[in-house]
Amino acid sequence: MTIKPVRKAVLPVAGLGTRFLPATKAMPKEMLTVVDKPLIQYAVEEALEAGIEQIIFVTGRNKGALEDHFDISYELEQTMAARGKSLEAIEGTRMKPGSPVYIRQQEPLGLGHAVWCAREIVGDEPFAVLLPDELMVGTPGFIAQMVEAYNSVGGNVIGALEVAESETDKYGIISPGNVDGRLTEVTALVEKPKRGSAPSNLMIPGRYILQPEVMRILERQETGAGGEIQLTDAMAQLIGTQPFHGFTFDGARYDCGDKAGYIQANLALALQREDIGPAVRSFAETLLR
Ligand code: UTP
Repeated sequence: MTIKPVRKAVLPVAGLGTRFLPATKAMPKEMLTVVDKPLIQYAVEEALEAGIEQIIFVTGRNKGALEDHFDISYELEQTMAARGKSLEAIEGTRMKPGSPVYIRQQEPLGLGHAVWCAREIVGDEPFAVLLPDELMVGTPGFIAQMVEAYNSVGGNVIGALEVAESETDKYGIISPGNVDGRLTEVTALVEKPKRGSAPSNLMIPGRYILQPEVMRILERQETGAGGEIQLTDAMAQLIGTQPFHGFTFDGARYDCGDKAGYIQANLALALQREDIGPAVRSFAETLLR
């Protein structure tokens, strides 16, 4: 079996972000900042760190700020340069020319549909999917750890993280087979199983490495939980035809599409910062006393 390298990443950012209204009425959810950086930039940096060469954003209406974020801002840069200010803070927003590709999902029909919208650009090669509203903090990053695992087993490698039994009805859940270190064989997948019927407490976070055949399955546009075209359902159909593993990340996950998770991410990352960490810590301690 030849294992083709993962060179492309799909970042679906066309969701409506209804859980974060009113913040997300006119602004994309992925532009919410954790400390001083928008969620989308964390995801792009995570992909680039893993050696990904092309970033495919699946966007929708009202998402122009995302494109502007990775473009040159002449006015800002010239003004800062004229004032002798360092441009270091915006270095991470400069992507290699030709690397970002923007396509539109005209209607938010589900994550599976968003991924399928990228089929022509993905072509016939394996690709990563990163959901930017899930912030993964680890060294190396989640996708870099997954790419390393993928390079040894090939096929499909998806994230696999433990959650409390009471939470399994909120996520895509893995039915596990053999376990080898951080890799777990996947024998079945189920999206949002009813309470008490989950095959395990291993949920699928927003990180995937998939083979292009999943696009042929998504092509059928079958709807699942919530009437949406579910990526989990399409992936489930690959099991048995290709190697399929879950990978347990060494690091932290913050669900920034959820208000509590978003605040936790800000607090955790602020406390780690040398510049503002001490001030935030002493404030938090005072507040909790
Ligand atoms: P979510 O389930 O978080 O949906 O999508 P959402 O619309 O962004 O947010 P809520 O639930 O209304 O608050 C998970 C990921 O899939 C993308 C989202 O942008 C997010 O990155 N997505 C979802 C799409 O790109 N298109 C869709 O049709 C659905």
